[in-house]
Formats: sequence, C-alpha cells, structure tokens
Amino acid sequence: MQDSYGRTIDYLRIAVTEACNFRCLYCAPNGYTEPTHSPLSVDEIVRVVRAAVALGVTKIRLTGGEPLLRRDIVEIVRALAGVEGVRDLAMTTNGFLLARLARELADAGLRRVNISLDTLRRERFARIVGVDAFDAVWSGILAAEEAGLAPLKLNMVAMRDINDDEFSDFARLTLAHAWHVRFIELMPVGVSAAAREFFARHFIPANELIARLPELARSDSPQGNGPARTFRLPDARATIGFITPASEHFCNACNRLRVTARGALCTCLFAERGTDVRGALCEGVSQAALQALLARAIGDKPASHPFGAEYAIQADAMSKIGG
Ligand code: 5AD
Ligand code: SF4
Repeated sequence: MQDSYGRTIDYLRIAVTEACNFRCLYCAPNGYTEPTHSPLSVDEIVRVVRAAVALGVTKIRLTGGEPLLRRDIVEIVRALAGVEGVRDLAMTTNGFLLARLARELADAGLRRVNISLDTLRRERFARIVGVDAFDAVWSGILAAEEAGLAPLKLNMVAMRDINDDEFSDFARLTLAHAWHVRFIELMPVGVSAAAREFFARHFIPANELIARLPELARSDSPQGNGPARTFRLPDARATIGFITPASEHFCNACNRLRVTARGALCTCLFAERGTDVRGALCEGVSQAALQALLARAIGDKPASHPFGAEYAIQADAMSKIGG
C-alpha cells in the first residue's frame, strides 16, 4: 500500500508495553510514569498485524517500553511468526532479559534483535539507564548471537558530554564481533523546558560523529528497514550506521507505521495523537473495518515531521511510543 505521497508502507512497529525496567536519561526527560493502561492483548496484536499485512505490511518490529517485560512475549512472537505474509519479525530491546529469553524467542520465530547500548563502561551504563545492568545486557547480546538472532544491531544514542568519548570504541566493536553498530542522533522527547534543555545540551549531529571516525568507508546496509547511512571499517565483521532524524530528512523514504502500547496507530513518530485502534477493537470492529481504519490512517500519513524550533516529539516519553 502506498500513502498519498507515494511511499510504500510495509513496516509496522508495535509497542507491546509502556513498562520499562530501565530509566534512560533521554527517554522520559520529565520522569518515568508507571503505565496506567493495559497493553493490547495477544489476540488484539494479531488482529492489527493481520489487517496491516492485508494492506501490504511485511515487516514487524516489537518495541516498548521493554517488550521482554511482557510475560506473554514468547506467545506474541509465536503468534506473529504464524501470520502468513510476515516476512521479517524483529524486536528492539534493552537486552536486560535477553540472556534468559533469546533462545525461546528464536525458537518461537523471532528473526533478529536491535539492542540498546549507549556505553561500554559499567558505571556510565548505570548512570545512563538508571540500573547497574551492563553485565546482564552484555550477556544478553551474547545470548542473542548464540541463538542466531541475526543480523544483530546495537543502538547507541550519541550524547555530548555523556558518551561522546566512546565512538571509536563502538566502531571497533565491529572488528571483533559481527554486531552492527548504529549511532542514533538524540531526539527531543517532550516539549517541557527540561526536555528542550537536555536536548540542546547533549545533541551531536551525525556529521560531527562521522568526522570523528575518519577511517570509515561507505558500505551497503545489512538487512533492515532503517534509514541508516552505512559505513564499514576495513576488515570489519559488521557495518556502522548513522541514523539522523534531526540533521537529515528521511521522511521522504519513511515506510513505517506505529502502534502504541495503548493501541493508537501513529503514522509519524512526531504525531500528536493517533487513530484509536484499541477503541475500535473493544467495540468489536470487523476485520474489514479494521483494515479500512488502517488504510485511512495510512492515507493521512504526513509528508514529514516538523524541523527547526518545532522539532520535538510530542509524547512525554519514548517508552510510550516505541522509538
Ligand atoms: N533519542 C534517540 N533515540 C532514542 N531512543 C529512545 N529515546 C531516544 C531519544 N530521545 C531509542 C534508543 C533505544 C530505542 C528503544 O529508542 O535508541 O535504543
Ligand atoms: Fe526503557 Fe528503552 Fe526508554 Fe531506555 S529508551 S527507558 S530501555 S523504553
């Protein structure tokens, strides 16, 4: 299915919970709030995915919050792996529970994972995510690799004065491991003064990052849906990507839809609010009508998100919309 700007929409991200066991600095600048809504059920998720697949979606990513906090996450994966037409089933996770779950997830049909990792230093890790969990996450990464969840990607949000002395350490990880490293430009989450200040103080444009890694050569992308600009170190086992929501428009190539944990369908990360899919499901919407609801939302997908002074995600926490 194409939207009204001719973009092919084939990628759906589903936040399966708002809950998280981390408190990343950049995720909720106004503070974490416990979820007040129950997330979509397995059956509801399957219905939404079926409708999306009928409209041409082939790639699904489970996000959160932290998806592995759902007790039925393996069941969700198994159910979605069984939906005909789902060709790529991936997850974004903080990795904390992966050591325990990677094998089961792979057996249930999960293809691959992106794991958040903003630093390779134990104490700094605790400061960034609020939990002393570097070792657990590192074990999770190894377990994911062992379970064959590939290509495995590590997401590093680049932040001035927080982790900007580690870019080359991260780049060099690709020499030792077949883990793709993706540097992500910090995005402003929320519109409060504190949120704007955090962003202003710590944002680093990708060009500055790239300039600090002169040994990079341009490369083809690994499998994925991402808008990353991809590079490689000589003799590396994996690629290095840059995701640049702030410094470069990739809205014109945006192929994605999102469903929040509360069951709102958002066609843009910066959307103020989405289409209430949850409400429709509760009212017993037919599968055809659900599909029509999705199709209408896709038709209304905006051309691009705001830049300049208005550039900010309206939601007050990334954990609510799934990044
Ligand atoms: N800016 C950039 N990326 C973010 N993420 C969460 N919050 C932000 C932000 N403010 C990304 C992180 C994490 C994923 C779940 O979402 O990369 O890995
Ligand atoms: Fe949790 Fe992800 Fe937000 Fe970090 S960025 S607090 S891991 S939802």
